[in-house]
Amino acid sequence: MQHPKKERTFVILKPDAIQRNFIGEIISRFERTGLKITAMKMLVPMAEQCWSHYNKDEAWFQSKGERIVKGREEMKLPVEKEAIEYGRDIIGQLVTFMTSGPVLAMVIEGNSAVGIVTKLVGGTEPLTSDIGTIRGDLTIDSYDLAGLDSRAVRNLIHCSDKPEEAEREIKIWFKEEEIIAYRSIAEAMLYDVNLDGILE
Ligand code: PPS
Repeated sequence: MQHPKKERTFVILKPDAIQRNFIGEIISRFERTGLKITAMKMLVPMAEQCWSHYNKDEAWFQSKGERIVKGREEMKLPVEKEAIEYGRDIIGQLVTFMTSGPVLAMVIEGNSAVGIVTKLVGGTEPLTSDIGTIRGDLTIDSYDLAGLDSRAVRNLIHCSDKPEEAEREIKIWFKEEEIIAYRSIAEAMLYDVNLDGILE
């Protein structure tokens, strides 16, 4: 079994995070937990890469689409297509957004990296993300507003929601040799049992 301190997660700062100069602010929130950044690159993603990343199935399109249709009915907006099509549009709009400019992709490692990062990032929709989280503190978008203008929700960041999902996503964005295996000094304080070598 792999030691839990080796768990990896995948994070991508989306074009809105880069354009709003939040790289430092967001990375510092991850760094100060003690999690370790083991890979990082700025790039303008390819559409195919984003489609592979957001590999949603028909059931996901249908259930998201049904919620969008319900929202449109409540807002007295016209419903012009099948629910599943509205669901598919979510990913189409996300791909348009993600390919609009530079993003910053990274791999973060440490005990429960997936859960810790998810907690710091907050819920997917900024409107309902908790205060204190990255999305709750730094942005204001909602699914309804994004849907009204047929665009992706501007939520600054994506992070993996399960360790298996992280491993799948990491492969899309990084070659294994781009991920650096190294020891950070702070890890001794986080994980070492005996703490030898501190006292002279
Ligand atoms: S879920 O509910 O966990 O299955 O969905 P999730 O994997 O978080 O969603 C994938 C991306 O779709 C976006 N999303 C939406 N956009 C607009 N409207 C609605 N209703 C909606 N639901 C999900 C969301 O931005 C997710 O992308 P990331 O990059 O993870 O934020």
